[in-house]
Amino acid sequence: MYSPPPHHPNGHHHPNGGATTSRRSSSRARSRVPPTSHYSTTTNGGYDQTEAAAAPPPPPCTDFDMAYFNAYADVGIHAEMIKDRVRTDTYRNAIMHYRSLIAGKVVVDVGCGTGILSIFCAQAGAKRVYAVDASDIAVQANEVVKANKLSDTIIVLHGRVEDVEIDEEVDVIVSEWMGYMLLYESMLGSVITARDRWLKPGGLILPSNATLFMAPVTHPDRYSHSVDFWRNVYGIDMSAMLPLAKQCAFEEPSVETITGENVLTWPHVVKLIDCYTISNQELETISTKFKFQSIMRAPFHGFAFWFEVAFSGPEILTDSDVLPSISCSSNTQLSDTIQRKKRPHPSEALILSTAPEDPPTHWQQTLIYFYDPIDVEQDQVIEGSLTLSQSKENPRFMNIRLEYVSGGRSVVKESIMR
Ligand SMILES: C[S@@+](CC[C@H](N)C(=O)[O-])C[C@H]1O[C@@H](n2cnc3c(N)ncnc32)[C@H](O)[C@@H]1O
Repeated sequence: MYSPPPHHPNGHHHPNGGATTSRRSSSRARSRVPPTSHYSTTTNGGYDQTEAAAAPPPPPCTDFDMAYFNAYADVGIHAEMIKDRVRTDTYRNAIMHYRSLIAGKVVVDVGCGTGILSIFCAQAGAKRVYAVDASDIAVQANEVVKANKLSDTIIVLHGRVEDVEIDEEVDVIVSEWMGYMLLYESMLGSVITARDRWLKPGGLILPSNATLFMAPVTHPDRYSHSVDFWRNVYGIDMSAMLPLAKQCAFEEPSVETITGENVLTWPHVVKLIDCYTISNQELETISTKFKFQSIMRAPFHGFAFWFEVAFSGPEILTDSDVLPSISCSSNTQLSDTIQRKKRPHPSEALILSTAPEDPPTHWQQTLIYFYDPIDVEQDQVIEGSLTLSQSKENPRFMNIRLEYVSGGRSVVKESIMR
């Protein structure tokens, strides 16, 4: 089903079924039709056929999707995520932070995996949690829920968010959907689907915002390790290997850990995502123009990408934001006023960061290397454009087109994260 996996420095597998730049280690995909069954009888009861007829049909579940869900049936991928304490502790802290908005409320956990976030929500006092996962890991999630005596609160639905039925609106959506470079895996689309299907107006989405960053980097050690090594091997000139070595090391994006010292400039914001308002269409193609100025003289080896997500609260109405309506009638009621909505200031939000200067996570950073470095001087300008687009072949893959100019050199690099 897939082309042979390209070389990858850490040799991990990932949920898209390939064996390249791995977000999360997993087994190779097996073919299976994801079921749309559930372990509870409480969900399909109120299913309205006329509404279903009016709603757009769910997107088809492709072979790529099946391979993706099968990869998440492997225990290793879940162990890796759960052992990432930066990730899991931040989610738990965020859920406990918003306890007052979760207690007594209905939650949907989009892609529950082993059920860990659903259990955190139950611990925060949720009245009911719909834990949805299309992967067979949902079977284990149900066992975990039973073993923790939470079956009265957590309803595990084994199926796609796009297909399962929940016959009530929900107050909260929680989901850990972020892939490498934030958008790889394209799982955010399923969170959008859940939001549009079930979230009450004014409901809470955790996380609420996401930001993708990029910056030019220098990484001489990595370059030497992959490329320069061939110049002299046991005293033999193996430079003839250089073109192949560069191609194998740098053709595809590479997931690896760098530090703040590798970064040559302040980062550029590629995309800001508001999970309350983003549409699936907006995610199909993302374009940005960048202009950096190197803060030092160094060989410029490529660009690094990382992201952060913020857990800020839902929109709130404050007295100072309640303004009289311009077109109000003489008997204006409060309901006739324009109410401005605000979220708490970003600095008050809890942040999960995958930046090079922050504690490492299993997402590491994603690097796009050039075949040959460009020597940049201090203050030298590096400018160009970036386009990220969902692959037509498999929307979970990401096409990356980078164009940049620096010191009179102009380069176009196209790669696919698969
Ligand atoms: C990154 S894992 C997170 C698992 C768990 N929430 C955690 O934090 O450990 C994402 C999970 O979402 C599931 N998933 C992705 N897209 C889905 C969809 N459209 N419907 C149902 N489950 C989905 C995958 O099978 C996978 O188990």
